[in-house]
Amino acid sequence: MPEKEPSYALGYGKGSVGWMASRHVGHQGAFFAQHLKAGMHLLDCGCGPGTLTCGFAEIIAPGPVTAIDIEPSQVATTAARAKDLGLANVTCRTASIYDLPFDDNSFDAVFVSAVLGNIAKPYDAVKEIYRVLKPGGVAGIREFDHAANMMYPTNPIFARSIELYLEMRRHSGNAENFGREVKSAMHQAGFHNIDAKGVYESYASETDVHAYAEGIIAIFEEMFGVNAIANGLTTQDEYDAMIKAWRDWPNDPGAFFTTAWVEALGWK
Ligand SMILES: C[S@@+](CC[C@H](N)C(=O)[O-])C[C@H]1O[C@@H](n2cnc3c(N)ncnc32)[C@H](O)[C@@H]1O
Repeated sequence: MPEKEPSYALGYGKGSVGWMASRHVGHQGAFFAQHLKAGMHLLDCGCGPGTLTCGFAEIIAPGPVTAIDIEPSQVATTAARAKDLGLANVTCRTASIYDLPFDDNSFDAVFVSAVLGNIAKPYDAVKEIYRVLKPGGVAGIREFDHAANMMYPTNPIFARSIELYLEMRRHSGNAENFGREVKSAMHQAGFHNIDAKGVYESYASETDVHAYAEGIIAIFEEMFGVNAIANGLTTQDEYDAMIKAWRDWPNDPGAFFTTAWVEALGWK
């Protein structure tokens, strides 16, 4: 059993995992899916709840998808999702992206989404991905870059909640702006023909801004708040005011939030 990632700050509550589970191949996986063909062998590193994993499995069937995650509950969730969807080509196991339990040159394609910004040594992880990819194989990496996010309207306590979120990530040793470094990490690992572009995920409709605020509040309530208070990064009073600010924010007709991501492709 691999050692638990000590720096994973988001936790595995309903808010956090529900957010991951809203991802799908037609959106967050599209940049990579266009390079997949039936019969390929794909590795998905840090599969989380597995919605992207299962989407890729449908595309490359009967080729196999191997999904790994450091967290056994996420491995189980992905396996259950694959079973429910009748996908017989998905195999899931608990493993660390730092020490993939596969031989060199094992996979035609490797995918990573929203993992590298959540760990302490993303450059080591990219080298490990390169190792298990076959010569000629393609890797797709999608990673957030929080410094490039936009939000409106804001006020001091709302802005403080965003700063606290980043402080908690830094406290966990995360590179919360790793998106901008993905191309460089791929270059250093040995990838060629690297392509990278920035994209936004936007929340503007009344439904979306309310859902976004609820997601943030859930993450704060499940983990960030308790940990931030325990670590002396905030006080109970400030924390309560931040939650109120997030409850009020989506009621402003101008509420808008957009998160920045980098989608990168590289070949071995
Ligand atoms: C934000 S979720 C992303 C899930 C999925 N890839 C997606 O985009 O929806 C990050 C996942 O990375 C996993 N993770 C964190 N550290 C890891 C490590 N060292 N090795 C493998 N997985 C890891 C977490 O357990 C979590 O499930």
